Amino acid sequence: MSEILVEGLHRLRGEIGIQGSKNAALPMMAAAVLHKGMTVLNNVPRIQDVFCMMGILKSIGCKCSLDGHTLTIDASEISQTQIPREFLTAMRSSVILMGVLLGRCREAQAGYPGGCTIGKRPIDLHLYALKEMGTQIRETDGELYARTEGLKGSEILFSYPSVGATEQAVLAAVLADGVTLIQGAAREPEIGNLCRLLNHMGAKISGIESDTLRIIGVNELKDTVYDIPGDRIVAGTYLYAVMAAGGEAVLRGICPAELNRVFQTARQMGAKLEWENLPGASFIKVQINDRPDGIWVKTSPYPGFPTDLQSPLMALMAAGNGNGEIRETVFEERFGTAEELRKLGARIEIQKDRARIHGMYPLRGETVQAADLRGGAALVIAGLAAEGVTKIQNSHHIFRGYEDICGDLQALGARVRYKDLIQRPYTKTGECTRNL
Ligand code: EPZ
Repeated sequence: MSEILVEGLHRLRGEIGIQGSKNAALPMMAAAVLHKGMTVLNNVPRIQDVFCMMGILKSIGCKCSLDGHTLTIDASEISQTQIPREFLTAMRSSVILMGVLLGRCREAQAGYPGGCTIGKRPIDLHLYALKEMGTQIRETDGELYARTEGLKGSEILFSYPSVGATEQAVLAAVLADGVTLIQGAAREPEIGNLCRLLNHMGAKISGIESDTLRIIGVNELKDTVYDIPGDRIVAGTYLYAVMAAGGEAVLRGICPAELNRVFQTARQMGAKLEWENLPGASFIKVQINDRPDGIWVKTSPYPGFPTDLQSPLMALMAAGNGNGEIRETVFEERFGTAEELRKLGARIEIQKDRARIHGMYPLRGETVQAADLRGGAALVIAGLAAEGVTKIQNSHHIFRGYEDICGDLQALGARVRYKDLIQRPYTKTGECTRNL
């Protein structure tokens, strides 16, 4: 399996552009299936999850081509309405295609997505929304069969602001008959980006960026070209990487306003930050000279501190100065990386939903295992603050969401590389250059 090698204790300095957002791209690819025509998405990240979603779209009859970072989707024909189980197992977020297929074809079939290393990850809120809109769903042997006589606009009240369930309800409502009101909606930026794309395509969605979305169903959509925004979680990961190694960097191509709560943590830890929010010229500049201080942080739905940066922050604090604590309120099992960080000398105590971290610098390079996407990225961060070489095995998890974590950090002066590769994991034309 792919390994990443990190030689620690080198300060970083430089400027990089941030890739397109994984968690914005995936629902936007699903949105393209609502339209019997062409959708072109720019700034698409070349990551495993995007290739997986392309595989699903092709399996249901769409034509997809990725040229550089431009993805063209022709969804004129849908040949079948079953989401193949192997894809759902690989990427549970593809379950949002159910609402799309119900809206387009009045039926959908999908394997029940299981849990993963970060939690049980039920889909009860997804199914609640679809049933409220007139869907009959039965489960047989772990397979969901959904049918509708035609989705109807309805009032949906979410008991929890689930990102995926909100996307599911929005996508199902676009072609429904009548008006849908979604209350208790998630407010993550990816929801706003999805709604703006859909409105570009001809949908009628209001209340964007609030927790109450109103969608007036339409009969058809139109060909659209749309730019995917930069990935706020990748930007936050690299911000913490610079803080772990020490130094300074400029990160371009993201919307700083989406990282307010992350900036607060960085400043509390002693980093100097500047940022500009000009369209097309946005950047974040981070500088730090001393070891980052430990702080208290609680993860929560947007605009709170993002759970996806919880393990990168834990890695940073593990190599920091003083004590810190992280409370994880979104996923029930997202402290798995602590065990691997301890192999590098980190002092972390886990008690239920809290991680207490006692900073230790430098850490020591060892061989560790990535177990999930953000946990793997956290191990790279810890390696930057470790004496010697840290070998991260099972780093294919990282490729799910980071287009080229080694190339990006190398551009900032980090000594980090793929063990069995001398180039980025995917070539410009999309061939995979590594064994996953
Ligand atoms: C999205 O997952 C992201 N994935 C996750 O990013 C992110 O961590 C998460 O939102 C929270 O921000 C994508 O966008 C592809 P949720 P999602 O539904 O939609 C519970 C990454 O690293 N819940 O908001 O699955 C659930 O168990 C990934 O990029 C229900 O109880 O997240 C969890 O505790 C990891 N019932 C909480 O809500 C439901 O029907 C948040 O889940 C749905 C969710």
